[in-house]
Amino acid sequence: MNISIIGTGYVGLVSGACFAKLGNNVICVDIDENKIEKINKGISPIYEEGLDEILSRNKDKIKATADYKFAIENSDITFICVGTPSKSDLSLDLSYIKKAAEEVGKQVQKKHGWQLIVVKSTVLPGTTKDIILPILEKYSRKKAGAGFGLAMNPEFLKEGIAVKDFLEPDRIVIGSYDKKSSNILKELYKNLSRPIIETTLSTAEMIKYASNAFLATKISFINEIGNMCKKLGIDTYEVADGIGLDKRIGRAFLDSGIGWGGSCFPKDLDALISWYKKENEKPEIIQSTVTINEQQPLRLIKLLKKHIPQINGKTIGILGLAFKPNTDDARESRAIPIVKQLLIEKANVKAYDPKAMNHFKKLFPDIIYCNNSKDVLDADAVIIATAWDEFKKLDYKGKIVIDGRRLLEAKKTAKTYEGVCW
Ligand code: UDX
Repeated sequence: MNISIIGTGYVGLVSGACFAKLGNNVICVDIDENKIEKINKGISPIYEEGLDEILSRNKDKIKATADYKFAIENSDITFICVGTPSKSDLSLDLSYIKKAAEEVGKQVQKKHGWQLIVVKSTVLPGTTKDIILPILEKYSRKKAGAGFGLAMNPEFLKEGIAVKDFLEPDRIVIGSYDKKSSNILKELYKNLSRPIIETTLSTAEMIKYASNAFLATKISFINEIGNMCKKLGIDTYEVADGIGLDKRIGRAFLDSGIGWGGSCFPKDLDALISWYKKENEKPEIIQSTVTINEQQPLRLIKLLKKHIPQINGKTIGILGLAFKPNTDDARESRAIPIVKQLLIEKANVKAYDPKAMNHFKKLFPDIIYCNNSKDVLDADAVIIATAWDEFKKLDYKGKIVIDGRRLLEAKKTAKTYEGVCW
């Protein structure tokens, strides 16, 4: 099939690359000339396992451009994958997706024939039907269904293993305005041989939000249990293993520690909370999930103070700045509130991360960034904030180690070792 992808962030680029790997012709549209140039050279502009290989192997099937006209003329299906970031009031900023819908609509107006337009960006329930559809109809001067198709097809990929998650999804969710749109998408995904849920546009949107909210709640739940376990000297991971064998619960996403970060959970839960409030509904569980997550990293500082009551003037080392291992992404990383609090309490902070230091330097330009993980150990105490594999091999001899991410290897050599929930 001939596919165009609007926006080459995580969702757009990984989807485009994987569709090409599955044998489709893909045109990626972006405003960023650097990204366009890299993609056309078969180089991934983002750090993601396996993406470079797919882009370089499928250069004949993937083109990147800033030209909407070229993209729509040469494709039958258009996926809108632009960002939907948070506004300062934490509600969702739809300006990019509205702009993309307008541009797509303008090109559909000029095109003979029927185009399928698919929203893949994360948008609150009702957005595709009530906001995107009218824009498309206005600028295409065509009616949804008759003049063009419309669907909502959320993505569930995780950073670090995004390519695998795209090619081996647990399910494919297809919300559609019309049957023809749904049938075409089923055909597109058929070779993945995965369960397909066919539903309405707003149900598909809600499945995305409810999935992320539930996963984040699972983590905050086990952290809340974990905080009590810590008091009682119980290992929360043993508890998680025990409850996780119950099929109704499942062991996944029950790793306790300093909480969840990234570009999705924080933004999505904030958008849900602000939406609930706008609808005069109380997001009790979701609000608590966020509150626990905000407090969890500071428990590390409390543990540190058990061993170093006065951290003023002390040097504290931070191992890991990315929001999770195997990504260069530090967005909403739990290391952020930790470093913030250490600086408030006038500690000297030195840090290392294999991939995410450039991102973190934008947030904290004045802390010390080490060239390697070993140098971080030259500190009064060490905090583990991201579970990179390379930190397992370090020799923590003589060190005070406060672990927020379950790196038990440190326990073997450290003078003092404390886990946040174990
Ligand atoms: C998430 C969703 O998993 C994915 O389906 C969606 O499409 C996008 O958002 P991602 O943001 O890449 O993916 O990260 P994920 O692997 O889900 O981890 C999120 C955060 O939770 C990380 O900070 C991670 O360290 C933390 N986490 C995860 C835990 O603390 N415990 C766990 O058991 C799992």
